[in-house]
Amino acid sequence: MKKTFTYTTALLSTCTLLLTACGGANNTTTNPTNNAQNSTNTTTVATTGNNNSIPIGIAVAQTSNVALLGQEQVAGAKIAEKYFNDKGGVNGTPIKLVFQDTAGDEAGTINAFQTLINKDRVVGIVGPTLSQQAFSADPIAERAKVPVVGPSNTAKGIPEIGDYIARVSAPVSVVAPNSVKAALKQNPNIKNVAVFFAQNDAFSKSETEIFQQTVKEQGLNLVTVQKFQTTDTDFQSQATNAINLKPDLVIISGLAADGGNLVRQLRELGYKGLIIGGNGLNTSNLFPVCKAFCDGVLIAQAYSPEYPGEINKAFRQAYVDQYKKEPPQFSAQAFAAVQVYVEALKALDSKNKVNKVQLPELRTQLNQQLLTGKYNTPLGEISFTPVGEIVQQNFYVAQIKMEKDGSQGKFTFLK
Ligand code: ALA
Repeated sequence: MKKTFTYTTALLSTCTLLLTACGGANNTTTNPTNNAQNSTNTTTVATTGNNNSIPIGIAVAQTSNVALLGQEQVAGAKIAEKYFNDKGGVNGTPIKLVFQDTAGDEAGTINAFQTLINKDRVVGIVGPTLSQQAFSADPIAERAKVPVVGPSNTAKGIPEIGDYIARVSAPVSVVAPNSVKAALKQNPNIKNVAVFFAQNDAFSKSETEIFQQTVKEQGLNLVTVQKFQTTDTDFQSQATNAINLKPDLVIISGLAADGGNLVRQLRELGYKGLIIGGNGLNTSNLFPVCKAFCDGVLIAQAYSPEYPGEINKAFRQAYVDQYKKEPPQFSAQAFAAVQVYVEALKALDSKNKVNKVQLPELRTQLNQQLLTGKYNTPLGEISFTPVGEIVQQNFYVAQIKMEKDGSQGKFTFLK
């Protein structure tokens, strides 16, 4: 039976199609050499959190175009904070999420990480939004021995950055091939494939490798590989080059604003075949960018709102109550990342009260603990390999369905 459900999205979200939406550039200054190694975090966590709460850092993009993804992460993390604190937090001690905006670049991310580590004195960090940012900022946390759980970094090599780096976002190698298989199921006559990717983005470069490999493994012809930048708005020349080669399938690895504009321009130039969007396009914040032209885009998913299980039901209900639409993958992953910290802290606290442990020692124990746990999350049951890679069972593919006038859209999950 076809499992369909929808999330309907009004187009009046705060981060609409404007290419410079969601606030201005990050205006904080950064000195990448001022890393966290010099800090002396010798007090216990109880003295660092407000009101005896346990501070967990959230370093995601709250401004810049990357906030099209980051705002969904903020939503998921806040729902988790309330959910777990309502359930007693860490054996009676509440958690307190401390948000530092990374904006869309590496410098802002390094700055956010340094602030969380040295000033906010968090026990661990959830973030950043982009793999491109993680490759720059995660080594700062690694050197400071502060755990990082990536909520959305899907490029190859993220957990391998260091012992303190893990992720709850399944990698491109696991997720991306699913959408190519779904496209072939919808149109078994696909032969020629055009691939586009953002060459200034680490995740997009990593994802396109998997897409290109999958295309070849499926016996399809890769007719062209077109490059762009995540900051581009005009894709006329790349789109024309590809359309001239008569592809039956277009696959895009980029982020939401650039990806949405590319989808729109491909359709405006007359491309009629299927389009696959990668993980960077996996947000309803795409809808205001490509409007009716988003219709039909296939996107692989590491989360389904219909996943059975009590915690997902609670998460889904809380999200729907607040946002009047189904929760997206980026929110569910951020929830899961916070959950990993809460449950690992609870396990540690049961053995040895965490508010009696010095902060550096607690960070190290927390890192070891979180890698050993099993977590029953909205994503399903997850755990980690010793290097910090997520182990997850359930994956899906959704197809965007837009209203004719492009005013609203939804993701329809395919069987
Ligand atoms: N999955 C995207 C990345 O890793 C957001 O950058």
